[in-house]
Amino acid sequence: MPTPETAIASALDLTYVRSQFPALAQTVNGHPAVFLDGPGGTQVPQRVIDAISGYLLRDNANTGGAYATSRRTDAMIASARAATADFLHCGADEVIFGPNMTSLTYAMSRAIGRDLKPGDEILVTRLDHDANVSPWLQMAEDHGLTVRWAEIHDEDCTLDMADLASKINAKTKLVAVGYASNAVGTINPVKEIVRLAHAAGAVAYIDAVHYAPHGLIDVAALDCDFLVCSTYKFFGSHMGVLFGKREHLKRLRPYKVRPNTNAIPNCWEWGTLNHECIAGIAACVEYIADLGRRALSEKGVPHPTRVSLGGNNETQLSSRRAAIEAAYAAIHEHERGLLERLMAGLREIPGLKIYGITDPARFNQRCGTLAIRIENHAPLELATKLGERGFFTWDGNYYALNLTEHLDVEKSGGFLRIGLVHYNTMEEVARLLAALREIVGV
Ligand SMILES: Cc1ncc(COP(=O)(O)O)c(C=O)c1O
Repeated sequence: MPTPETAIASALDLTYVRSQFPALAQTVNGHPAVFLDGPGGTQVPQRVIDAISGYLLRDNANTGGAYATSRRTDAMIASARAATADFLHCGADEVIFGPNMTSLTYAMSRAIGRDLKPGDEILVTRLDHDANVSPWLQMAEDHGLTVRWAEIHDEDCTLDMADLASKINAKTKLVAVGYASNAVGTINPVKEIVRLAHAAGAVAYIDAVHYAPHGLIDVAALDCDFLVCSTYKFFGSHMGVLFGKREHLKRLRPYKVRPNTNAIPNCWEWGTLNHECIAGIAACVEYIADLGRRALSEKGVPHPTRVSLGGNNETQLSSRRAAIEAAYAAIHEHERGLLERLMAGLREIPGLKIYGITDPARFNQRCGTLAIRIENHAPLELATKLGERGFFTWDGNYYALNLTEHLDVEKSGGFLRIGLVHYNTMEEVARLLAALREIVGV
């Protein structure tokens, strides 16, 4: 539990936040468990657990039937779609549910690829998770496309934007880029990359899996063509979600079975979906929105109201969307405090190297996901020793394989990854630093 000092200093009510997540109360070998494994999947609030089990208890059925449980299932999926649309800031018919980001990306790459021809080009990046690289490389192989790679600045693990811009041209059909790196925490200038892609007539496919727990996603403002994320990374169930601009979802031809209608979004959703996990999605979006409602009411701001955005944009800024925006402002502020404290403490440990941005003046270009190595200590050894003390971190490449190979750490165990999310506390950070010092003997 947070100390009173940390609770007051935080932009979030950490006592409330942590009380929502039953898993956080666990212990390991008598030590309180410290969940620094958010980049691999976050814990879920009680309401998500209740929504999943409640669905199985009362509503479990297939869709489209003329009876009560089936109708409730249809209504539940519609409400999860509406919640996700508020989360991403798009229309509900632009939201596609699938098993995970990787499967959705493979499905979309198959459909995008069938309209491309030899000589067309695509661009991927050295920084991305392999799920936003391999599907496109395999699409390129199938259709004879040329692949361009955007390189990084090795010293701070940021994208080399000049290099990226130079590799987009009139032949480019697709630019696939991550919003934030799941290995080193870099947040990419996605809006600018979308602009560059569009100027060349290419579509932009954004992997927001790692960004989603840390920052507000606004597909309308980004103007991206596709954006994918996974609800299990932002306090929900094990599901993937894809946003596609309506025009693309209608224009592209999905591979699908005949009884699936041609109407979007269903023509992109095949077979029977994981209904119980979809039930968890609305609950996790509501959890985030509630953080925002609480933050707003503490500041004396009245409950957000529905505002029309007007113009050609049919979407309205729902009260839930306004609450989600407020939630991310509070999450950002809290995580920023944790990041500053963790970074300062890590920099004092001799022999420790941090990959990625370390300058606090540039922390708006990164999130609180840190990749480190410590001289004479393999990442797996550190993760194991931390694990015995109750700290859950990761070692290896976390599928950011192109990056670990490029930085030549792949053969020696990759990195130790410490992932901060909003339910972590200052006290946990202080304890982690003490444990690391003890393990390396300084
Ligand atoms: C940045 C990033 N992209 C993609 C993925 C793959 O997501 P999924 O497990 O939903 O396929 C991950 C998972 O760790 C990730 O961190």
